[in-house]
Amino acid sequence: MANKFYITTPIYYVNASPHIGHSYTSIAADVLSRFKRRVLGKENVRFLTGTDEHGQKIQKAADNAGLSAQSFVDKTSRQFVSLWEALDVSYDDFIRTTEERHVKLVQKVLEILHKKGDICEGKYEGLYCTPCETFWLESQVTEGLCPDCRRPVERIVENNYFFKLSKYQDWLLDFLKGHKGFIRPASRYEETLRFLELNKLNDLCISRPKERLGWGIPLPFAPQHVTYVWFDALVNYISAVGEFDSRDNYHSEWWPAQLHLMAKDILRQHTVYWPIMLRALGIPLPEEVFAHGWWMINEDKMSKSRGNVVNPLEMVEKYGLDAYRYFLLRDVPFGLDGNFSEEGIIKRYNSDLANDLGNLVYRTLTMVEKYFDGNIPDVDLNGFKDNQRVSVILDKIQQVEPKVHAALDEQNFSLALEVIWELIGMANKHVEETKPWNLAKENRHKELEGFIRLLVEVIRSVSWQLEIFIPRTALSIREQFGSDKIKKGNPLFPRIDTKKK
Ligand code: ME8
Ligand code: MG
Repeated sequence: MANKFYITTPIYYVNASPHIGHSYTSIAADVLSRFKRRVLGKENVRFLTGTDEHGQKIQKAADNAGLSAQSFVDKTSRQFVSLWEALDVSYDDFIRTTEERHVKLVQKVLEILHKKGDICEGKYEGLYCTPCETFWLESQVTEGLCPDCRRPVERIVENNYFFKLSKYQDWLLDFLKGHKGFIRPASRYEETLRFLELNKLNDLCISRPKERLGWGIPLPFAPQHVTYVWFDALVNYISAVGEFDSRDNYHSEWWPAQLHLMAKDILRQHTVYWPIMLRALGIPLPEEVFAHGWWMINEDKMSKSRGNVVNPLEMVEKYGLDAYRYFLLRDVPFGLDGNFSEEGIIKRYNSDLANDLGNLVYRTLTMVEKYFDGNIPDVDLNGFKDNQRVSVILDKIQQVEPKVHAALDEQNFSLALEVIWELIGMANKHVEETKPWNLAKENRHKELEGFIRLLVEVIRSVSWQLEIFIPRTALSIREQFGSDKIKKGNPLFPRIDTKKK
């Protein structure tokens, strides 16, 4: 397929309920999908998300819940599905690693790499973090603690199967040096490059003995072992969209992905393991891996292991879905860490949504009612261009879309929203400077018509752009201004009284 867009989120672990961090990546992917559907056509966009359901920590969580692993993952996976529904996350496909399409393809991958000599048997001794399902290099572990979750790592010795990462290290370094845009933002690219330059890659232990862990995909050539959960999980990006033929060639109308989206916690798996797996399989690499920052709570990463998670549904209940989406996308430049707080949401809500957007919509509706009986004046704005302020705003309307699209092409959500809000701000200022109540008093009917029509044009343009980010609000605005006669609804974002709280 020539001009298509295949975008993925991580498949999230189902050992606990989703939190704000998970919703962030999915909402970002949703916005990019809506954007690309508009540009490329719906049928040319595929947005994949899903759940990562094997491995030790899921087995443990199931044990703790007193459920079989399968019924536990069935239950928690559903929480993700229903959260995405509640957050308007418009995925096209949801993959679960316990599905047959995935299990079969993982086994095929293992078989191919084993046959090729890239997976070999050996003894494993190393430092392992069970909650993160991650092996760490001696050099990465200080004070016996996992560098990611800061819980104790364990020393493990056992017979296992290894994937020959080391064989491909030079290739990967060369590849990265020639493809600066493969990993973004640039800081993450540098981080990966440094990691590869300073460390010799260990071969990756990709199996677990069944007696230690039963909950995983059996290795086809060694059924007493199951597949390491990361090796299993990464394959989802290809198992969801294609298949191998009898000559071990992979076919898919969607692959390669245009964008793998995630946070920086799983950068190494996506920029070292995954490219090497694909290379070994003779499958093209994805075009780009983007690792955004972390939502923090008081300087600490929000994560289930640190017990400081916030439930997205609670925020939506309190502030509304679109205020929540808007806050996440607008408050922190994509790629940087951000501090999460309800005060932060309320601030954005009252200033950007209530004061700026809500006010423009509401005052315009009110004026159309008051001065024109609810009929939107049918005038040609070209006739008003000698008014400097009018012509500047008309120009701005023209510029918004290309600027929003350029920002989104770089995953710069906050900039895209700033551009839209510049137009909203100009329109509000125009109201204050024109003082339409004077035009009405002085019976300057024609000017008043042009003035109102311009505001309506601004609002229609804004709602068209906003549909990508906050679709419900955009729809509501479109319903109110969609035809010649307005349909005034309730205020979009009634101010939150902070004194009362
Ligand atoms: O790592 N801030 O799953 P996971 C921002 N199953 N984003 C956050 C976040 C935070 N505080 N916390 C989580 C896994 N995320 C593997 C992935 S993919 C083949 C396998 C988001 O449930 C962010 O996208 O731990 C992060 O990369 C992901 O959730 C980790 O989800
Ligand atoms: Mg995690």
